[in-house]
Amino acid sequence: MPTMNPQTAAKTTAIQRCIDPSCGTRFRLDERIYVCSRCGGLLDVVQESATDTEQLRALWTKRLASFETRDRSGVWRYRELLPFADDAPIVSLAEGNTPIYDAPVCAVYCGLDALTLKHQGCNPTGSFKDTGMTAAITQALILGVQTVSCASTGNTAASLAAYAARAKLQCAILVPRGQISNAKLAQSLDYGAAVLELDGNFDDAMRVIRELAEDESIYLVNSINPFRIEGQKTVAAELLHQRGWRVPDHVVVPGGNLGNSTAFGKGFAELMDLGLIDRLPRLIVVQAEGAAPFADLFKAFPISALGIAGVSPASRSQHSASDWNSWPALTPYEHPHTLATAIKIGAPVSWQKALRAVLASGGTVLSVSEQEMADAKAIVGREGIGCEPASASTVAGIKRLVADGVIAPTEDVVAVLTGHVLKDTDYAIKYHEENLFSDGDDTTERRKLAGTYRNPPTLVQATKAAILEELLRHTGG
Ligand code: F0G
Repeated sequence: MPTMNPQTAAKTTAIQRCIDPSCGTRFRLDERIYVCSRCGGLLDVVQESATDTEQLRALWTKRLASFETRDRSGVWRYRELLPFADDAPIVSLAEGNTPIYDAPVCAVYCGLDALTLKHQGCNPTGSFKDTGMTAAITQALILGVQTVSCASTGNTAASLAAYAARAKLQCAILVPRGQISNAKLAQSLDYGAAVLELDGNFDDAMRVIRELAEDESIYLVNSINPFRIEGQKTVAAELLHQRGWRVPDHVVVPGGNLGNSTAFGKGFAELMDLGLIDRLPRLIVVQAEGAAPFADLFKAFPISALGIAGVSPASRSQHSASDWNSWPALTPYEHPHTLATAIKIGAPVSWQKALRAVLASGGTVLSVSEQEMADAKAIVGREGIGCEPASASTVAGIKRLVADGVIAPTEDVVAVLTGHVLKDTDYAIKYHEENLFSDGDDTTERRKLAGTYRNPPTLVQATKAAILEELLRHTGG
């Protein structure tokens, strides 16, 4: 892969900027930093782009019929939103291009008239991480780094391993031993990464990797890296493009390290700044009950007492985007626990950015139980679609919010499925065999979850009669 002069591969109008309004320090794009070197704040990539919205829409639609690699990618198709010059050495696996589905079974389950699923699990490595990784690894090539690295609950690792292999970069991934699914581990091994298993949880791995990234030889591509967010934010453009630029009332995402919520928020906000949409969908973040520091923070603030449906526009505007900076700090969970291992995170790195995004959109944050998530996952499966456990938190969260009157049954809701159904087959099989026990630590009891929508395999005799009889039983006949 070619490396190139960082000065020429970056858009001249783009910079990195500290998100803290009282600091706001600016850095060049080729400065290899992950947080503000003055105050330690998180960084945003910002760029000025004045453009004709009709022209842009037409250009993006025209690219759908193109065979050029950049146009075939659901990320690079929207490259006007990205901080890269035209000749950047793009590392792409044709990411993005993920389907939106009508989900009538899920809609009935949630109490909605209709529900749309945006399946980010249909990315090349089976999760939404690919849309960010293509940008981060492209930036790694621009910077001329040799080794790329991340801490992960499995999906970031698999994605990084794949893109690093494509770019011929050394890849080191840090994962909590025994706490990531076999499928994700297998992917990282196959893609040739150095898989380093740590004793401890994801948050421990994240702490170590941030120390490691102080070393010049290591380039960190967790979502604290603002280029990851740049790639991931294009999902907002793809989603709206697929919907003919019709803005949904709510977009619902699972929350772990909170990079994805950040990216959706940034994407929608930029589309609005560009004049491509005239309002923001409300961003709703759903966490697992045992790993819900962001939901707790939201619960403690008066806005949540009102519930978004009950908030008048006037009172909502008191909690504008600029408010996030005055909020109390998030209190991490020392021992997060959930069977949705993808979001088993106690100290989300990007919580301030996610908070900013949720507030700007008038959205909310909540947590759901293991049982709610497990049942919602089975329902997404009944749709003929399926997803990994963390993704099902969205459908579980929507069901709760409809029941609570926060989402009206007639509203236009999009649930984002972040990972593919094959990412965690152990979980699915245990659920259907009613052998799924909640995750716990020394202080929490492990409870057997009900297989409310179970569909266990049955042993039958190898005869036509036995099989026909069993089929009758299966259909309830
Ligand atoms: N859903 C899935 C399937 C995930 O893998 C993750 C995060 C999330 C949701 C949460 O997204 O962290 O941006 O809030 N997985 C990371 C990983 C942490 O290492 O694979 P987030």
